[in-house]
Amino acid sequence: MIIAIDGPSGTGKSTVAKEVARRLGFVYFDTGAMYRAFAWKSLQEQIAPTDEEGLRRLIEHFQFDIQTDRSGEKHYLVNDVDVTHKIRVQEISNLSSQISIYPFVRQAMVKIQRRFGHKLNVVFEGRDMGTVVFPEAELKIFLTARPEVRAERRYRELLVKFPDLANTLSQEQILREIEERDYKDSTRAISPLRQANDSILIDTSDSKAEEVVDRILQLYAQTKQNKKSSLMHGSYRFVVAIFRFVLKLFYRLRVYGKVHFRPGAAVIAANHVSYFDPPIISVSCPEEVHFLAREPLFRVPIFGKIIRALNSHPVSRDASDAHTFRVLIQLLQAGQKVILFPEGSRSLDGQLQPLERGLAFLVYKARCTILPVYVDGAYKAWKRGSRLPRPYGRIRCVFGSPIEWGEFEGLDKKEAMERITKRTESAIIALKNWLDNGAVGDPP
Ligand code: DC
Repeated sequence: MIIAIDGPSGTGKSTVAKEVARRLGFVYFDTGAMYRAFAWKSLQEQIAPTDEEGLRRLIEHFQFDIQTDRSGEKHYLVNDVDVTHKIRVQEISNLSSQISIYPFVRQAMVKIQRRFGHKLNVVFEGRDMGTVVFPEAELKIFLTARPEVRAERRYRELLVKFPDLANTLSQEQILREIEERDYKDSTRAISPLRQANDSILIDTSDSKAEEVVDRILQLYAQTKQNKKSSLMHGSYRFVVAIFRFVLKLFYRLRVYGKVHFRPGAAVIAANHVSYFDPPIISVSCPEEVHFLAREPLFRVPIFGKIIRALNSHPVSRDASDAHTFRVLIQLLQAGQKVILFPEGSRSLDGQLQPLERGLAFLVYKARCTILPVYVDGAYKAWKRGSRLPRPYGRIRCVFGSPIEWGEFEGLDKKEAMERITKRTESAIIALKNWLDNGAVGDPP
């Protein structure tokens, strides 16, 4: 599970995020430290925050690493230099706010952050965790506090860290810098500091850190409970169990790459060769998924009820694409996963056909993740043109690494759509090749 904690500095974000992670046994990830580390490196190399080209070159060689020592303290390393304490000075605070406006800086940071988010339970602390980096996070918190309170906290923190600077520190000066930094962070063009629509706002001005931590732990417990009860409803679970039994017994169904499965909205993009494909994929997914089916199928006795229980949504043959599209967008906006067959129709010979533009159009509009899937063996089991399935065979379903929307962010529509299509097509082909080459290790 990912817990995203965002907010400006001085709201107690770090203290709270660290303690929440400790109490839950989650990994704690301070994304501000990454921007600070890059700011420190730029200062070392004497590259001004306005020198975009210089920073662009610098980021290519920027190596950031986190190590935990025996006492559990985190150390931040930049090209092997320990910068843990060096990045906490005011000069770096201001500089990090300046260098974080550049899209190429943010893209590089987000890439590293998402890599961390894939397989672990993590508390991410930052500015854009809930809005940009992990929009699918199950629990999003946005901390705020009155600027005066934040300035006072920062003042006390600096006094403890740098007692010999006591004479030079001024609370008014700190307040001014905080307000300046807030302004920069929340007005920058890309990923500004902003509360996500679905995040929970906590004002920490008049609360102790422990109270805030307790509140977040309560929210976590509620989220977990809701997740459990919403994971699969009764009739879905029942129909999936029957399909699973049949597919395992008659077709020795095997599923690969479940590690790639992540919570939140996604388009599950699969090759399409058979009527079996939707149930195969539904059975293989660890959570409820949705798909579309032609409206007349819902009127077939029993079969109609079965597909309805499997979360299929009717689209009439003559319904406009716009209607189908709306149904899909609504599902994705509600955080659901939708199976889509981007080839458009079932393949006649079992081979992957060129992908149509529908997938790219949908992903471009919904700005969601794509989960590539390859189903093998369904063609032999029930190919197009056969009235009935062959009651034996071997079916395999492989999930590939998620393709994040971030890969296409900033591109114009035409280019984004072309890239989405190409990227998905090659991901599905890579999964097929992985199976053909013996299914070694995790699928790509
Ligand atoms: O949280 P912090 O004060 O350590 O962050 C330092 C700066 O880094 C902050 O002014 C803005 C930037 N930052 C960001 O742009 N996005 C993040 N996710 C985290 C920090």
